[in-house]
Amino acid sequence: MTCFIDALRRLPTNKTPVWLMRQAGRYLPEYREVRAKAGNFMTLCKTPELACEVTLQPLKRFDLDAAILFSDILVIPDAMGLGLSFAEGEGPQFANPVRDAKTIAELIIPNPQKSLSYVIDTIRLIIRELNGRLPLIGFAGSPWTVATYMVEGRSTKNFSIIKKMMYREPALLKQLLDKIAQATILYLNAQIEAGVQAIQLFDTWGGVLNESCYREFSLYYMETILQQLKREVNGKTIPVIFFTKGGGQWLDVIANSGCDAVGLDWMTDIGEARQRIGNKVALQGNLDPSVLYAEPAQIRQQVKAIIASYRDAGIDKTGHIFNLGHGIYPDTPIESVEVMIEAVREFS
Ligand code: CP3
Repeated sequence: MTCFIDALRRLPTNKTPVWLMRQAGRYLPEYREVRAKAGNFMTLCKTPELACEVTLQPLKRFDLDAAILFSDILVIPDAMGLGLSFAEGEGPQFANPVRDAKTIAELIIPNPQKSLSYVIDTIRLIIRELNGRLPLIGFAGSPWTVATYMVEGRSTKNFSIIKKMMYREPALLKQLLDKIAQATILYLNAQIEAGVQAIQLFDTWGGVLNESCYREFSLYYMETILQQLKREVNGKTIPVIFFTKGGGQWLDVIANSGCDAVGLDWMTDIGEARQRIGNKVALQGNLDPSVLYAEPAQIRQQVKAIIASYRDAGIDKTGHIFNLGHGIYPDTPIESVEVMIEAVREFS
């Protein structure tokens, strides 16, 4: 039960714990079946029995060391009334994006026990089903990452609309980021009360900023959340993982933020990362998800290289959680995931 949590706290473990970002998802036929039964992705998220079922699916197939709540980072803006939908093959879309002062001023901070109660119910079901066998990770998006979708209205390549706001109306953007941070604090504390044992903040788009903007518009709000989370429950600490995709360049800044662990994408060598930050924070990562398209021998070799790089850094034998460097792709062969997990067991 505890090797994942122990590794986050940099205590000795008898193996390198492993889980996968987006471990429940379209690469699993049993997921596609439940999603079809639900009709669409948001209904799946909003039906606790089904969201619980898909959370547990990857654990039945693979020897994983943690479960992650099945939900999405965009449920907060959905609860704020932005009209979220997922068109087939197009990703998320908001009917009512927020781009002006009036809309931002009028945004409500949702009460998680009301408009997000389906997430709380899902967590309670999962905790009951897991029955202490594995820890459950709760999560939210970073305010900056969530704001990119709220302002742009959809996925974007250039982030033109939100970056224009950042440079021309920074105070307005900060008002929005602050509201998202306040909503996220309430939401994550409700997740903690419902029983999640660790938290990950997904900052998928922090890496599109320059360093000073990253500090001011992304990391600052992640720290604001961190400082207001209930970190102690029944004498146990709830570790918090910060994952900024593209954040390897600011590793020192992130490692000094007060988080317990930093999630790395595959652009940074994990051993060099460990040497740079010394004995500070646990590190999670960082296999390129596209390695899972390779032949088994190469998958094994790449897993071995990551584990060896971490160990040979010689700083902290503990404190590594194996993961992908970003979410698993929908067309990943299931056998590749098996090969990857077996290799983690063998080489760690
Ligand atoms: O890891 C898990 O198993 C937990 C579930 C989870 C989902 N989304 C389910 C999901 C988590 C942790 C997320 C986080 C998330 N959501 C992020 C941050 C992490 C990352 O991957 O960068 C972001 C940016 C989102 C927003 C989002 N949700 C996008 C851009 C999309 C569409 C892209 C895509 O993969 O299709 C989603 C949809 C989504 N969220 C799916 C799943 C399983 C696919 C929906 C489907 O079944 O069609």
